[in-house]
Amino acid sequence: MYGTGKLIIMLILGVETSCDETAASVVKDGKEILSSVVASSQDLHTKTGGIIPENAARQQIRSIIPVIQETLDVAFGEKLDEKDNNTLPPAHPPGRTAQQAGGYPLLATKIDAIAVTVGPGLIGSLLVGVETAKTLSYLWNKPLVPINHLIAHIYANWIFSNHESRITNHKGPKFPLLALVVSGGHTDLVLMKRHGYIKWIGGTRDDAAGEAFDKCARLLGLPYPGGPSISASAEKYRPLKTDHRKLKMFPRPMIGSDNFDFSFSGLKTSVLNHLKSHKLKVKGPQLAAEVQEAIVDSLATKSLKAINKYQPKSFFLSGGVAANKRLRTKLQRTIEKQNDLEFHVPLVHLCTDNAAMIAAAAYYNYKPIPWKRVIANPQLTITGES
Ligand code: KG4
Ligand code: ZN
Repeated sequence: MYGTGKLIIMLILGVETSCDETAASVVKDGKEILSSVVASSQDLHTKTGGIIPENAARQQIRSIIPVIQETLDVAFGEKLDEKDNNTLPPAHPPGRTAQQAGGYPLLATKIDAIAVTVGPGLIGSLLVGVETAKTLSYLWNKPLVPINHLIAHIYANWIFSNHESRITNHKGPKFPLLALVVSGGHTDLVLMKRHGYIKWIGGTRDDAAGEAFDKCARLLGLPYPGGPSISASAEKYRPLKTDHRKLKMFPRPMIGSDNFDFSFSGLKTSVLNHLKSHKLKVKGPQLAAEVQEAIVDSLATKSLKAINKYQPKSFFLSGGVAANKRLRTKLQRTIEKQNDLEFHVPLVHLCTDNAAMIAAAAYYNYKPIPWKRVIANPQLTITGES
């Protein structure tokens, strides 16, 4: 932590390894990214048609140290020194690499704390990030903040784009906020009255929204990860541009139920039944558009229902599925029609797994604990139970 006058600046190194991305990032004051590096093993999983946890963990081990090195170099190395030399003291003399100037421990003196994803996720993958962060915390004598990956997705909404951070006086989103967290393994609707206060109001009874995209894509012969593949295929369905209301082929289970829950497992069965049927009239991009609309419709309808009941001041879309163009547009259009309700969604590259959101979450929920007590917890829920 260092200050100019009254201003205290906090730099947090985030580490994220919950699934198939190895990511690290340095974030200033919970909102400005100094560096963000993501190494993905997705290509490997595309070949196997989905994630094999053992493969993902092996790849995490290979990537973790190079990713952290690159993150520190970009944040504090020459590139940044040249641009921002009046806001950060130089990490090492210009013209010398970090190694020549004393190595990464020197760069590490510039960070104030380390934040790491402790769950939920794949145990083998989580362990790589958690044990690395613990080792660095011990070695560099830096506080260590354990972070819930699902809550961190919500915090991607606090991160400015470079453009915004430099030209606007952004005050941050308003509480209370309602957040829809839609990822590969989870679908939750939560209410946040302030930082650190999370109330779960609904979620999926079976498959997560991302899982539904991934499983249906597989049935349609589209590559993993299924969300972007279905979205790209759906874009090719021309009539889509005119009327989404006609896309009613697949059921939306629980859409009318008297709660804020979702169910997506029936969708893959419907798709499978359609594919097996002899009267296969609809295929390709139209089928992708139908699948996408069934998922988006369920998510949007329940979100609006929750908005009507809880009357939040902001709505936050977050998680990998928030990268979906149709979901972003549909929710934004509907929500912005409502008075006194702000719509927030992260930049697309901050919706899917990254470590900037981990560092941001740690800044606003700064609770370091001794490294010996930090443990990976694959079953962690959004409200902290396991
Ligand atoms: O949050 P995330 O990156 O990882 C988890 O925490 O699970 O989410 C990954 C999920 C995958 O299921 C992927 O298919 C989905 O997000 N996804 C999308 C899109 N991009 C990623 N789903 C729909 N449309 C997209 N453009
Ligand atoms: Zn995620």
